[in-house]
Parts: sequence; structure tokens; C-alpha cells
Amino acid sequence: MRVLASAPAKIILFGEHSVVYGKPAIAAAIDLRTYVQARFNDNGAIKIEARDIKTPGLTVSFSEDEIYFESDYGKAAEVLSYVRQAIELVRDEADRSRGVTVSITSQIPVGAGLGSSAAVAVATIGAVSKLLGLELSNEEIGRLGHRVELLVQGASSGIDPTVSAIGGFIHYEGGRFERLPFMELPVVVGYTGSSGSTKELVAMVRRTYEEMPEIVEPILTAMGKIVEKARDVLLSDIEDGVRFQKLGRLMNINHGLLDALGVSTKKLSELVYAARTAGALGAKITGAGGGGCMYALAPEKQSEVATAITIAGGTPMITKISREGLRIE
Ligand code: MEV
Repeated sequence: MRVLASAPAKIILFGEHSVVYGKPAIAAAIDLRTYVQARFNDNGAIKIEARDIKTPGLTVSFSEDEIYFESDYGKAAEVLSYVRQAIELVRDEADRSRGVTVSITSQIPVGAGLGSSAAVAVATIGAVSKLLGLELSNEEIGRLGHRVELLVQGASSGIDPTVSAIGGFIHYEGGRFERLPFMELPVVVGYTGSSGSTKELVAMVRRTYEEMPEIVEPILTAMGKIVEKARDVLLSDIEDGVRFQKLGRLMNINHGLLDALGVSTKKLSELVYAARTAGALGAKITGAGGGGCMYALAPEKQSEVATAITIAGGTPMITKISREGLRIE
């Protein structure tokens, strides 16, 4: 028996980092997916094969007592710790003695702020739980994905695994989500080509917060207010042109505050300004920052903005919002 599951990447539209402090955030699933196939093996071990994980980096392969990693890419080793934790959690719930092999292929660049770790955790939980005969809803799988992130990263809001499991648009706050109405947003994602570690960036913001709470707390509060305004704009019955203008302004303010927290880089800022200059109504970091991706809202200007991102040295991706979260293929 084999089970193939897939889960999507995500963009955080508003509220990354502040969401770790209990403030709200808005995220959407996008149409890049990670595929995980799970099957039994005879030696009771966990085996992970990851031959096609898209990331720049060195070649590493290593093995542990019970766990064999086969991977062509260095940064993939970090991803595999999410996979291993996901399999162990599911085996704890079902049957620890069964040997499980998973094979991973992914369209999502690793460390790009597009939720590659959450997508691989969610797809792994989906495939392995089905293989072991557990009936879990996508919502429950999102919660297990959050547990995986907490075990691997130490700190996580849970927004990435939730949106990857559920799909569409969500407003997320304090571990609870609200589905927002589906709409097509004319976005362009720009990849810097370098990766940031979510774990390290979240820890860096925490250190700044602890050092200067009187400065950082108002920044986080303002980010939360931006999210609530953006939610009102997304839910209000206004013309799309006006909606996009308002969202764009909020994106630009959110980007400035993320920069103030220290999670932007020269390259991210260059892509953000290139997109704005080419006509985007708003542009900001998406995800943890420190490299990774930005996104721009560019109605009727997607190809101009994509070109500007390329000229500025980034890789543009014109993506669509994905209605679907985790699915068994
Ligand atoms: C990462 O995609 C988003 C962060 O806010 C971390 C988290 O919410 O767990 C930086």
C-alpha cells in the first residue's frame, strides 16, 4: 500500500513575526506544492528519501541509527528534521513498530519564507496518518503540524501549517483561524535566491524584544492593527481597485515595520523598491525574512513587476492563491 499526499506553500500577506506574539495575521495558500509518498518497509525503521528538494546548497547525506536520509541538497537536511518529527508524532498516535518510508518531491524553494517546512510536515502527516489508518481532519493535521514546528523550531505561531492544511485565505490569531472569502489577488512573489532560517529570525526578534520591549511592543501592536485593517478591507464591499490601493498602503507600512525589526536584507529591500517603482501598489517581505521572498500586489502590472524583480536580481513567480490545502492524491 502507498499513500501520496500533497500540501501547498503559503504567503503571509500581513502579520509575520507579530503573530508569534499573539497578534493576528493573514495568510493564503499558493499553488506550489510538496508531495510526500508514504509506504511500509519491513525493517521497522523510518526512512526518508528526498531527492528533489529545491534549494541552493551543498550536498549532504547522513544517517542515524534508525533513520536514513538520502538527499542531494544541504539545506534539505533541515527540512528532513520536520519530516522525521512528523513521522514520529504520527507513529506515536498509531503504531510505533511499523516501518515507514517516505519519498518527498517539492516545488517549493526551501528557506524562502514560503512555508516549505510546514508544507512538508503537513503532507507527511497526511500521508503517514492515512497509511497507518488514522482518520484525521485537515484541521487536526494542521494542529499536529504546529506541534512539529514547536518541537523543531522551539517557537512558532502555527500559521504556516494551518494555512497549508486548510488552504485558501485565513485570518489567524492565538491558534485559531477564520476562513476569509476566496478572491484572486494579482500578486507577484520575488525570491532573493538566498534563504533565511525561521528559527534564527524568530529568536533574533525575541532578543530585540527582550532588550527593548518599550520600542518593540508598539511595533508589534501596530502590525496587529495593520492586520485588522487589512481584514476589514478584504471583507468590505468595495470596488477591487479601491481595495487593492488600501491593501497596498498597508503592505508598505507592514514592510517598514518588519525592516525596523531587522528581518529585511539589502536584496529584499531592492526587490521591494523595484516592484514599487514598476507600478506595484504595495510590496513587502513575506515570511520570516533574512533572505527568502517578498511579494508585490500589482493589478494589471504583474509582468512589468516580474521584469523589474528579474532586473533587480531576483526570481519572480506569478502565483495563484490555492483554494485547496492538504489533499490525498
Ligand atoms: C514564518 O512564515 C512566519 C513567522 O511569523 C513565524 C511563525 O509565525 O511561526 C516568522
